Amino acid sequence: MRKLYFLFTVMLLLTAACKEREPVSSNAKMEHFLDSLISQMTLEEKVGQMTLYTKNWAVTGPAMNTDVEKELRAGRVGNIYNALTVDYVRKLQKIAVEETRMHIPLIFGFDVIHGYKTIFPLPLAEACSWDLPLIENTAALQAREAAAAGLNWTFNPMVDIARDPRWGRVAEGAGEDPYYGSLVAAAKVHGYQGGDLADPFTLLACVKHFAAYGAPEAGREYNSVDMSERKLREVYLRPYHAAVEAGVGSVMTAFNDLNGIPCTANRWLITDVLRNEWGFDGFVVTDYTSMNELVNHGIAADEKEAALLAIKAGVDMDLQGGDYIKNLPALVKAGTVPEKDIDRAVYRILRAKYLLGLFKDPYRYLDNAREKKTVLSQEMLDHARQAARESIVLLKNDTVGSAPLLPLSKSVKKIAVIGPLGDSRRDMLGSWAGAGNPKDVVTLLAGIREKLPDADVRYAEGCKVTGNDRSGFSRAISLAKSSDIVILALGEAAWQNGEAASRSDISLSGEQQALAGAVLATGRPAVVLLMAGRPLIISRLAERAPAIVNAWQLGTLAGPAIADVLFGDYNPSGRLVISFPRNTGQIPVYYSMKTTGRPASDQKFTSKYLDIPNTPLFTFGYGLSYTRFKYSDLKTDKKEIGFGESLTITVRVKNTGDRDGVEVVQLYVRDVVASVTRPAKELKGFKRIALKAGEEKTVSFTLTSDDLRFYDREMNFVAEPGEFRVFAGRNAEDVLETGFVLKKM
Ligand code: BGC
Repeated sequence: MRKLYFLFTVMLLLTAACKEREPVSSNAKMEHFLDSLISQMTLEEKVGQMTLYTKNWAVTGPAMNTDVEKELRAGRVGNIYNALTVDYVRKLQKIAVEETRMHIPLIFGFDVIHGYKTIFPLPLAEACSWDLPLIENTAALQAREAAAAGLNWTFNPMVDIARDPRWGRVAEGAGEDPYYGSLVAAAKVHGYQGGDLADPFTLLACVKHFAAYGAPEAGREYNSVDMSERKLREVYLRPYHAAVEAGVGSVMTAFNDLNGIPCTANRWLITDVLRNEWGFDGFVVTDYTSMNELVNHGIAADEKEAALLAIKAGVDMDLQGGDYIKNLPALVKAGTVPEKDIDRAVYRILRAKYLLGLFKDPYRYLDNAREKKTVLSQEMLDHARQAARESIVLLKNDTVGSAPLLPLSKSVKKIAVIGPLGDSRRDMLGSWAGAGNPKDVVTLLAGIREKLPDADVRYAEGCKVTGNDRSGFSRAISLAKSSDIVILALGEAAWQNGEAASRSDISLSGEQQALAGAVLATGRPAVVLLMAGRPLIISRLAERAPAIVNAWQLGTLAGPAIADVLFGDYNPSGRLVISFPRNTGQIPVYYSMKTTGRPASDQKFTSKYLDIPNTPLFTFGYGLSYTRFKYSDLKTDKKEIGFGESLTITVRVKNTGDRDGVEVVQLYVRDVVASVTRPAKELKGFKRIALKAGEEKTVSFTLTSDDLRFYDREMNFVAEPGEFRVFAGRNAEDVLETGFVLKKM
């Protein structure tokens, strides 16, 4: 049978090639091959290729779902996700290529969000590294591991800009800033897809959730999004566009409606912007049943109408809903949908399979020896630890006695680890943890014990993450009292962030705040470790705790990575990519807000709160180090530039402490007078530099007039002449300032 399949493929390839006169370009060859294939398919087989179903994978093994297999044999499904491991994927692929009439291979998708089996830090955490090569490499390793398990498609990167941490999926993105988010998006696409999709160490990427899914009203999951086109284009669309420019092969539509039109039926988004404006030539897939949900949105009377709206909008593939397969053939037969629209969608999907090399060899990803060698390999684990170390953000480090509390001395004898996350394996994996298995996780407690084998390291849970049980407090307090140092591990359970995990109150849940209060009241030196998938409200804690480390949810090697930072083997270099609000009522708060007509001042009638400052507790770009950096001498090489010209901005940065360290030097710009209101500051560049103790470097940035463009009154993307302020510094607030002028044309 397998031989037959190859004969069939070779025949098609030859026919395609023969039709062309010499020389045959590989594109023309592909087109002939795919067109010829499509011409032989029945309408139902075509719509089958536009259908994606899940195969639920149970921990103990694949839960066989006979319906999907029946559909598969009938040619009514062309794509499967959540089918894992080489053996299982092979079994399903064999059905597709040997038992279906057209022998078309399946594509296998999975949510490889921050890892397949080796779990790397949550994406939001890793974004805090500001280390784009590291981020790209993490994606490449995720691809290598997942591809070794038979997969060829990941539903990532998720690039939704998010400025509302009540929304649980902030954990999956790169934070609040469009410039930075775009760079991360591109790095991930390059990492997953590599240079050649046919390389069986890569995955096809899928940028999601198109569009503006990260801005739901009130931070409530799946909620409506209503925003101006200006804001949409300047902030929310940019990272998707960057992913398209980086060559992403697929795009997933979002659940939400956008200005009244659900994204899955939004022709303006999918056809006008994505395809016609941006030139996207891959395929578009819905989110999970988001086509069927057009009925709930109230824009389709039934699923048939939903399918019609989706195909008209430009959606190529239906994820999980089965709406296309149930309704499109009839819509075509009735003449409501032209068959050429179906052919076009099928072409895009088959093209991805072709580029993945699946027509040449549908079993090319399936190698048991490679799977065994790659999954959880030392290379993966080493990188997971490095990525985790770089993700950690030091928020506070007061001097206790004569020195800052952190890093801790390795000669400390008695250490108390207290709190519900101190020894939790599952929660270290965070949300969307792929096929990650808690048993592979090294917890904080285990990481500290591994680092200090001779110390007496004890653990008390104190309380759970939720609930109101304080019965563990007394043991926790007495452990604290008998220890030299306390490490308080607080935050969120993995289920408290990710999809369908919006929270109306993002302070520490359950009795954790009270536990922290009781432990801090013992007077023992205590480090608070926050482990969460979002910024938490910690204003009270920030006043009392001498040291706070934001350790997010760092994946398989969370424990060793945190221990590296706590005991000084790694000098923290992470910087926030999302602001920490002072309280939930301050949300949304982000660094690039507008000034308003009444900028906050001592005057009453200005834009501010009566009870808290406008600034967040910890701003974008913020993060401490065990050393200190001094900024000086911010200069531009020119006072004026013309259109099409550039200027160089330099700033001197010195490590004035006695440890080597890494600093993220940030560049912001403000357009002082423009035809529309502009943000008070916008990130335009950054450099992540290593400085030895005492070392000083001049860091330089280049800005061109193109970098100053925005959407003017008529929605043209232009730069306008006038004055610009330039800021460089260690975060969005702590900056030096200079300026220049963009001359009139
Ligand atoms: C999520 C997507 C995900 C899909 C498939 C949906 O619920 O919103 O991000 O890729 O499921 O698992």
